[in-house]
Amino acid sequence: MSSPLVVSLGSRSYPIHIGPGLLSSSLIPEGAGSRKVALITNTTLLGPYGTPLVRSLEEAGLTVETVALPDGEAHKTLDTLNLIYDALLTASLDRRSCLIALGGGVIGDMVGFAAATYQRGIPFIQIPTTLLAQVDSSVGGKTAVNHPKGKNMIGAFHQPRAVFADTDTLKTLPDREFTAGLAEVIKYALIRDPDFLRWLEDNMAALRSRDAGALTHAIRESCRNKSEVVARDEFETGERALLNLGHSFGHAIEGALGFGTWLHGEAVGVGMLMAALLSQELGHLASSDVSRIARLLRAAGLPMKLPDIPVDNLLPYMAVDKKNEGGRFRLILLRAPGAAYIEDAVSRDHLRSFLAGAPPSLASLASPA
Ligand code: NAD
Ligand code: GLY
Repeated sequence: MSSPLVVSLGSRSYPIHIGPGLLSSSLIPEGAGSRKVALITNTTLLGPYGTPLVRSLEEAGLTVETVALPDGEAHKTLDTLNLIYDALLTASLDRRSCLIALGGGVIGDMVGFAAATYQRGIPFIQIPTTLLAQVDSSVGGKTAVNHPKGKNMIGAFHQPRAVFADTDTLKTLPDREFTAGLAEVIKYALIRDPDFLRWLEDNMAALRSRDAGALTHAIRESCRNKSEVVARDEFETGERALLNLGHSFGHAIEGALGFGTWLHGEAVGVGMLMAALLSQELGHLASSDVSRIARLLRAAGLPMKLPDIPVDNLLPYMAVDKKNEGGRFRLILLRAPGAAYIEDAVSRDHLRSFLAGAPPSLASLASPA
């Protein structure tokens, strides 16, 4: 196995291990760094992955409290968080205990927030089991739960002690979830890595067939890009906002359709294409660049059709985006494929007319090279 990546944050630096077979390796009990742990997962993942992991942690001499939460974004709430706190208090976990998040981004975000707040903050490790979580949500320390008035509105920055992305777990991930994760992989290439973009263009078929080598490379390159940005801007005062390419449009689609109708990555995929089209309108991208991006998203199997949503339903979601400042829209756009920037000079009226004029079928953009 190759050496881990490291997120460089001084005394809070941590490794990201990527590869097959990690769940049964001794790295996880070592990485927990505590004799008493709580393994927190969901009811779907408990049987296939949770129970074997608990067994191997106990064989390594750890005392394990197991918590299985209900599955799904609808349960990413303060009420579910209370189930975690109840279990930790009942099992008398203290500040030296470690939480283990086993699951996708929903579990990772919730367990991270529980770790940030239980007894004013305890360590946790991330064991992401979706592609999205392996390339994005498990790295960087953003933790949160949803509030009825907005997604991820209650949260904290709290970095994990280590991340273990076992690529074997992706074998059981449903196709739709896997494809949605590819949008976040493409995102890193479009933001800041032209070489990775070319690699993705050449290797999308291997990735979609879940070839182990291709997956490990794509996860590693995504995490490397994310780690570099997080190390320079942990609390998103600047550059880290670039990691939200496609998200302003994407969140608006998710919200306007009702969260859960489209998966996050599906909406981000279409959102990146909208960002590319707006970048073209502003004179930064050629139409051939937009076609190139559309072809890659189509090759990944991501949706190529804008959902039928009136502009007036999308705009309010874009207006409450966490990136906005002082009532101004802040959009992440592209100067070139592989070079994103923060745009804050697009007015509400401009955005409205852009959205109203967007082509409903994006497939025609993916013309042959
Ligand atoms: P998810 O956690 O809901 O997982 C998707 C589904 O796949 C669930 O039903 C889950 O039980 C199942 N699953 C997970 N691993 C599996 C496996 N190996 N085999 C079979 N089924 C499996 O969704 P997600 O896409 O991983 O995460 C989405 C969440 O991540 C959102 O809440 C989003 O806000 C958050 N997120 C956070 C960050 C961050 O930086 N913290 C970044 C991106 C997204
Ligand atoms: N998912 C964006 C970030 O972590 O900043």
